[in-house]
Amino acid sequence: MMVRPARDTELEAIRKVHLAAFGDDERETVACLACELQSNTSDPRHLGLVAEEQAVIVGHVMFSPVSVEGDDRILGFILAPLAVSPPRQGAGIGTLLVTEGIRILSGSRANIVFVYGDPAYYGRFGFRRETAEGFTPPHPLTYPDGWLALRTNDARPLPDAAGISCVPPLDRPELW
Ligand SMILES: CC(C)(COP(=O)(O)OP(=O)(O)OC[C@H]1O[C@@H](n2cnc3c(N)ncnc32)[C@H](O)[C@@H]1OP(=O)(O)O)[C@@H](O)C(=O)NCCC(=O)NCCS
Repeated sequence: MMVRPARDTELEAIRKVHLAAFGDDERETVACLACELQSNTSDPRHLGLVAEEQAVIVGHVMFSPVSVEGDDRILGFILAPLAVSPPRQGAGIGTLLVTEGIRILSGSRANIVFVYGDPAYYGRFGFRRETAEGFTPPHPLTYPDGWLALRTNDARPLPDAAGISCVPPLDRPELW
């Protein structure tokens, strides 16, 4: 199994992974989001990774840039979405996708990575509610406990409170 940057030609395979992994109520929305973010190749700050096994894509994660209101020198990202093909779940693929993404972003001097997800899962990578506290997400949250963040370096002090803006595909109230 290998984790590597996604290619422009792999949108259909990426879409299939998300369609298979998510439940009926969200699969179309998330698959569409994943493809929209992944096709935004005009912005080099987007990072999409796939997990490939025997020439088949079995996992995908996307990191896109966010702006922190009041300080455009802070380099922030948000992890969304993440999916692993159901038959391959529980084999460490999600962990590899997330840790490789964080490793790459840390190397590119990212200061903070946000995620809106299950604290029980993302907590294992160091994402914490306390770290996200004070940062207002782009839209009101259905599950406020899922708003988490991870500091990837301390090179820049962060404000005590600031609004976060995201890229257009994520800037939809129904995703939050
Ligand atoms: C969440 C997901 C990406 C994890 O990928 P994975 O390859 O199965 O994850 P890993 O094998 O690296 O880790 C599996 C571990 O995570 C745990 N886990 C998986 N989903 C979890 C969740 N929602 N909450 C808490 N723990 C979770 C498993 O119980 C397992 O625990 P263990 O290591 O103690 O046995 C995958 O299950 C998936 O695609 N789920 C559907 C889509 C989804 O929910 N995406 C995340 C949106 S926030």
